[in-house]
Amino acid sequence: MGLSLKTYHNAFLLISLFILIISSLLDHAHARIIKVGTCDYSQGSWVVDASYPLYDSSKCPFISEGFDCVDNGRPNKDYLKYKWSPTGCAAPKFDGQDLVKRVKGKKIMFVGDSVSQNQWQSFSCLIHAAIPNAKYAINYGEKMSSVNFTDPEYDISSIFNQKPFFVELEEKPERVLKIDTISTSDVWKEVDILVFNSWHWWHHTGRLQHWDKIQEGAQTYKDIDDRMEAFKKGLTTWSTWVDKNIDPKKTQVFYQGISPAHLNGDEWGFPKTTCADHTTPITGSKFPGAPEPGVPVLKELLSKMSTPVTLLDVTTMSQLRIDAHPSKYANKAGTAHDCGHWCVAGVTDTWNTLLYASLTPAAK
Ligand SMILES: *[C@@H]1O[C@H](CO)[C@@H](O)[C@H](O)[C@H]1NC(C)=O
Repeated sequence: MGLSLKTYHNAFLLISLFILIISSLLDHAHARIIKVGTCDYSQGSWVVDASYPLYDSSKCPFISEGFDCVDNGRPNKDYLKYKWSPTGCAAPKFDGQDLVKRVKGKKIMFVGDSVSQNQWQSFSCLIHAAIPNAKYAINYGEKMSSVNFTDPEYDISSIFNQKPFFVELEEKPERVLKIDTISTSDVWKEVDILVFNSWHWWHHTGRLQHWDKIQEGAQTYKDIDDRMEAFKKGLTTWSTWVDKNIDPKKTQVFYQGISPAHLNGDEWGFPKTTCADHTTPITGSKFPGAPEPGVPVLKELLSKMSTPVTLLDVTTMSQLRIDAHPSKYANKAGTAHDCGHWCVAGVTDTWNTLLYASLTPAAK
């Protein structure tokens, strides 16, 4: 009896310990969708707000031709007037001066494809609009571009690192996507705030495909037909790298979320249209088209990481903005047809409003 009681007791201790370990592991599951208090910003609708846009794009010196819709002659400017209104709670009030204070002395880096470049330029414009007389230095490079606000009282570095897959793409003699390798990323360890985004390039097929072969370990193969599988593999390489190399006490990590394109209105209830035919957002809070398939893959992966990564959950709000792409106004000649990027000023400012909100003390 005594013995069995002791055995029972030991088993009980063991089970308790087991439960403790499991729950602490679960505690490590992050993928925090940003919330300030109880507000879930990811769901809501767009409302006209006379105080928008947050800055005058003609006064922002950092906008590439491809995003500078007003300068390229876009006649309809209603798209500039919309503010995101989350369902059931107030939107975070954007305060440029306060953003400047929060990022003073910091390096902020946007890593990914040209949609990251889109957000980087909007971020730099928001800072510039708050401190219009501050000195800055710009450098545009092939892989690394930066806008630095150099006055000692600001000392803010806003950087774009062009790395569309995160993993390495060897270009010569053949284009080989090394899907399990990240080797040129030491710069990511040196910054205070990282905003990652990889998505669109995984989808490009045919003439637009960016690789001739994929390499994984010693194995090289022609392709991965299931692009979602390829996305997951590449992203897993990235998440493993982040968990191993990023010190969350030093560097805050964000994921930009999945940004939708609007090329084919058949898919979202406006047959025979593209983004070029729209000057107002979809009303209400429901996008009538299919969900973005990358979202669940991304959320699951982020939730398994040991590093806390804040997801800027921009998908729904952006899906509703069929009106906010550059379309023909992605160049001065009017020959473009861009339904993938976003006009700056515009939707990417709202993404940065979420980034800002998550840097304020109210965020948790
Ligand atoms: C901005 O600062 C970063 C380091 O934070 C540096 O690598 C980059 O060259 C600087 N850019 C310019 C334009 O001075």
